[in-house]
Amino acid sequence: MRFPAQYPAGKRRDDHHDLAGRLPRRVPPRPPRCHRGGGVLDLACGSAPLWPALRGRPYVGVDTSPAELALARDRGAGPLLLSDAAALPLATGSVDTVVCAMALQIMTPLPGVLAEAGRVLPPGGRLVALVPDRGPLRGADPLWLAGLLAALGRTIGYPNDTALRRPLPRLLDAAGLRLADDRRCRFVYRTAGPADADLFLSSLYLPGLPVRRLRAARRWLRTVARVHAGLPVPLRRITAVRR
Ligand SMILES: C[S@@+](CC[C@H](N)C(=O)[O-])C[C@H]1O[C@@H](n2cnc3c(N)ncnc32)[C@H](O)[C@@H]1O
Repeated sequence: MRFPAQYPAGKRRDDHHDLAGRLPRRVPPRPPRCHRGGGVLDLACGSAPLWPALRGRPYVGVDTSPAELALARDRGAGPLLLSDAAALPLATGSVDTVVCAMALQIMTPLPGVLAEAGRVLPPGGRLVALVPDRGPLRGADPLWLAGLLAALGRTIGYPNDTALRRPLPRLLDAAGLRLADDRRCRFVYRTAGPADADLFLSSLYLPGLPVRRLRAARRWLRTVARVHAGLPVPLRRITAVRR
């Protein structure tokens, strides 16, 4: 995902892209089937940053943002479907793996999204999701993050934060999924220039962030880059298996 050069307050990033003729507006009447045998569904694929790592495997990307799908297409990823994760245009048991990077925290209703992920997997198929988390942090991490929040003028929170903090097995169970692994890890993001800073800020998924806040956050990231090794990024990886 990336910011456009300008990011006017109150506008969604989608507003910036002229998509006329670039993507199907609707899901095709016969959605492509991602055949078993290593097939991967990239759920909420965005601009498909996972695509290079998945190349060589049958792939299908799904997202509700035409702008993000246009970027994914420019990257060479495909097929791509403009569709809601809570109503997937894919056959039952049609993919071996569902990957979902940095999106499970925002997609609602979460039970419906998980139910669909479970439906398109066959027994034994896997859902692997990466979501932001509050920890682990260490040392001065909280200070660097507090500076970022001050620059953004807001906290960073997502619709499914509360649900994801509750014990997961029951939530997954309702979707026919069994929790196989749940782990957290602290990464460090180093910004070498404005492009890196924008990439980091776009990954926070804060649509409508005012331009002055975006600039303040960029300044903060520059400061961090000057005096510190990088920003802490605590992530959680959830792996579930279809029953
Ligand atoms: C933070 S981005 C992550 C994108 C990509 N997976 C990545 O790692 O860069 C979240 C994505 O979720 C998509 N999204 C939000 N709600 C969705 C929904 N209900 N169904 C499908 N995609 C959705 C957004 O359009 C956006 O591209």
